[in-house]
Amino acid sequence: MSEFDIELQQVRKSFGQVSVVRDIDLQIPKGEFVSILGPSGCGKTTTLNMIAGFSMPSRGDIRIRGRSQMKVPPEKRNLGLVFQNYALFPHMTVAENVGFGLRMRGVARPEMKAIVESALRSVHLEGFSDRYPRELSGGQQQRVALARAIAPQPSVLLLDEPLSNLDLKLREAMRAELKEIHERLGMTFVYVTHDQEEAMAMSDRIVVMEGGTIAQQGVPGDIYRHPASRFVAEFIGQSNILPVSAYSRSAAGYKLSIEGGPVILAGAGADSPASVGFCSVRPQNVRLVGVDDVPPGMNRLEATLRRVTDFGAHQELEVVIGLGHRLVLQHPPIAAGHALAPGQMVTLAVNPSDVRLLAV
Ligand SMILES: Nc1ncnc2c1ncn2[C@@H]1O[C@H](COP(=O)(O)OP(=O)(O)O)[C@@H](O)[C@H]1O
Ligand SMILES: [Mg+2]
Repeated sequence: MSEFDIELQQVRKSFGQVSVVRDIDLQIPKGEFVSILGPSGCGKTTTLNMIAGFSMPSRGDIRIRGRSQMKVPPEKRNLGLVFQNYALFPHMTVAENVGFGLRMRGVARPEMKAIVESALRSVHLEGFSDRYPRELSGGQQQRVALARAIAPQPSVLLLDEPLSNLDLKLREAMRAELKEIHERLGMTFVYVTHDQEEAMAMSDRIVVMEGGTIAQQGVPGDIYRHPASRFVAEFIGQSNILPVSAYSRSAAGYKLSIEGGPVILAGAGADSPASVGFCSVRPQNVRLVGVDDVPPGMNRLEATLRRVTDFGAHQELEVVIGLGHRLVLQHPPIAAGHALAPGQMVTLAVNPSDVRLLAV
């Protein structure tokens, strides 16, 4: 037996001349909640469809629990599927929808009733058995789809943007619920999304895809703090990206010349790229300080304030440094009477260890 539930080995998918998934290697351990995250069109659904067996790789191998699936049809892969449009049967009750797959497999009636009830309990829909889909809200319908997918007790659940038809509040509530269901059932979850917050909130591990390849994978916090490329730095959370024209090693890390701007220090990253093209710093890591209040060891940046946006809980300041490089920073609300005015000079402090070096 393999320690991995799912393995993709050099998997490629081409449509005509175009490869939309390009030689991907991916290993998903049993019980993990892994998210495949990337912008629209990067190949997430294509990858999931190949795992599900709806589409065959142009080359490479897909293994489930150590066995190649190249000759295994979708219904024999023991996977549960949840998609964006829940596709419930409108003429069937909730219980009939959830029991559909079980009936197809010839599960006996009394046993089926118990499994359906247990699946509905899992998604907090006990008591809804006799309703029809039209009598349910969008969130409830999606939960029925989830119950239907888990009822046959698959070892792996594949979810393709299952929350994207729901409104924000419900989506956030469902995140917590999905995570809780995952923990309770112990199934492997492969979750496809273009929403980085969703992926950050739920996943044990995130696989970031870009143009049919894996840009980076790791635990959410690591990817956020140590993005491997400009693409990842910009896609996961907000980042300020500054072009670096030259850099050299210094005692504590690196000295970076920002194009047409100041020289700043960056901490020694564990995995500094060979060719530095950019550096990034998160908005919450740029601090507005008094002219004489830059703490020792911190980078000092002089900037011109462009815009202040008040979000209530915090303010977002847009500033310009050097030859016009734009930086965004977050700041606690500033008391009335001390308001900042666009056009004024401000002093910023940035900890070198919060500056990331990024490859070209
Ligand atoms: N059956 C198909 N024939 C041709 N091109 C396809 C087909 N399915 C998907 N594609 C293309 O493959 C790329 C990746 O699609 P998809 O996997 O659906 O992306 P995602 O799910 O990340 O948004 C897109 O450019 C899409 O147009
Ligand atoms: Mg898709």
